Amino acid sequence: MSKIQWRAMFEVGVPSIDMQHRKLVGMINQLEDALTSGKGLINEEIGAVLIQLVEYTQYHFAEEEQVQRDIGYSELKEHTESHRLLMAQVKAILLKIKKGGTINVFEMMNFLRDWLVNHIIREDRKIGVEYKRYYARLAEANIPRG
Ligand SMILES: [Fe+2]
Ligand SMILES: [Fe+2]
Repeated sequence: MSKIQWRAMFEVGVPSIDMQHRKLVGMINQLEDALTSGKGLINEEIGAVLIQLVEYTQYHFAEEEQVQRDIGYSELKEHTESHRLLMAQVKAILLKIKKGGTINVFEMMNFLRDWLVNHIIREDRKIGVEYKRYYARLAEANIPRG
């Protein structure tokens, strides 16, 4: 298991989204630190940190979907569906914890980390491309024709 190093290829080009992604990566790294430092976090603490991470992810998805609506993103439907599927998977895991079941936190961390990194690179960056095009067109439209 390794921490996520922020890479240029994570940059989407939408300032609010990039800021949220940096925060998400930071939260995942923090959790990883806590888990590997051998401080022996008890289940309740791990659960609390996980819930924070999940809540922030949910907030981020809603914000990101709003950006997509604002610019009339062409893959809004598919993108929203992939967010919804991840949240459903994560919530099923959280419910299991709540009911007293045990989960492999490392496995969950790896799953979340890989999902987020792949999703940012493969899907979120496409939003950035259309975002730039959208605002370039707007700027163009505002130029008075001589
Ligand atoms: Fe996304
Ligand atoms: Fe995202």
